[in-house]
Amino acid sequence: NAAAAGAIGVIVANNIDGKLSGVTLGTPGVVPTGGVSKADGDKLFAAAGQSVTLDLRYHEEQKVSRNVIATTKTGRRDNLVFAGAHLDSVANGAGINDNGSGSAGLLETALQLGSSPKLNNAVRFGWWGAEELGLIGSTKYVQSLTFEQQLDIALYLNFDMIGSPNAAYFVYDGDNSDAVGEPAGPYGSAQIEKAFVDYLTVEKKVQVEGTDFSGRSDYGEFIKHGIPAGGLFTGAEGIKTPEQVAKWGGTAGVAYDPNYHGKGDNLGNIDRVALDRNADALAWVTASYAISTES
Ligand code: PHE
Ligand code: ZN
Ligand code: ZN
Ligand code: ZN
Repeated sequence: NAAAAGAIGVIVANNIDGKLSGVTLGTPGVVPTGGVSKADGDKLFAAAGQSVTLDLRYHEEQKVSRNVIATTKTGRRDNLVFAGAHLDSVANGAGINDNGSGSAGLLETALQLGSSPKLNNAVRFGWWGAEELGLIGSTKYVQSLTFEQQLDIALYLNFDMIGSPNAAYFVYDGDNSDAVGEPAGPYGSAQIEKAFVDYLTVEKKVQVEGTDFSGRSDYGEFIKHGIPAGGLFTGAEGIKTPEQVAKWGGTAGVAYDPNYHGKGDNLGNIDRVALDRNADALAWVTASYAISTES
């Protein structure tokens, strides 16, 4: 309650998108259930004085999060193929699509490639921690590398949500041919986009679309450092259009993942066909770059 909060002086934690939604600062009210950042929470509290009502599901806590990094035994380590997926989820649900799907697809490829007798380029896998708190694990990782170590990364592939229940087939728009007003990715990102598009179109017979490549997942810090990147995405809170239903099936007017960051993100709510196709694309593109990054 307000009195208790006054004594503590701070609200919050679970910063879902770094955004404060549904509350006007300065207006006493309920802290939104979506969570607010500590900074926004402090502002809200200061503006609202003692009359703010706290949602006590949100509190501040220090926790340790870890990245899990693994590299194949064979292959050049000065021309690394890097593939990653975030391992954490929001507190609300089990996080099966976001991001058990990407993590599991990545693990299967790691298991298969790890025993491969001779790769030309080593593959490094990253299961990132604390993505949901602001891409923290991947950002710290990239920033912890020396410039020389960053140059050893040929490219980065990202998998964040690849089995959405009302699935879209999105490939990060590395060449900015689809998303308007967004810069193209670092040189090489266009080729990565094309590799995923070609595989899904030819082998899986699915038409794909480009999607936002501005940094809303763990590839963000890689592209900031000029490392070409790409990846797959079956959609979150965006709404499926009738045109997309004609291509992919599913339900128009409904979110690609109606359970996005919700309780319903469980094993019962995953599109296994989408997961299977995308896991194959993940494996194929990763393995082909382990053979060569020349084309
Ligand atoms: N990074 C988001 C998450 O983990 C997923 C997402 C990526 C949503 C890109 C929209 C666009 O919740
Ligand atoms: Zn998420
Ligand atoms: Zn995610
Ligand atoms: Zn494109």
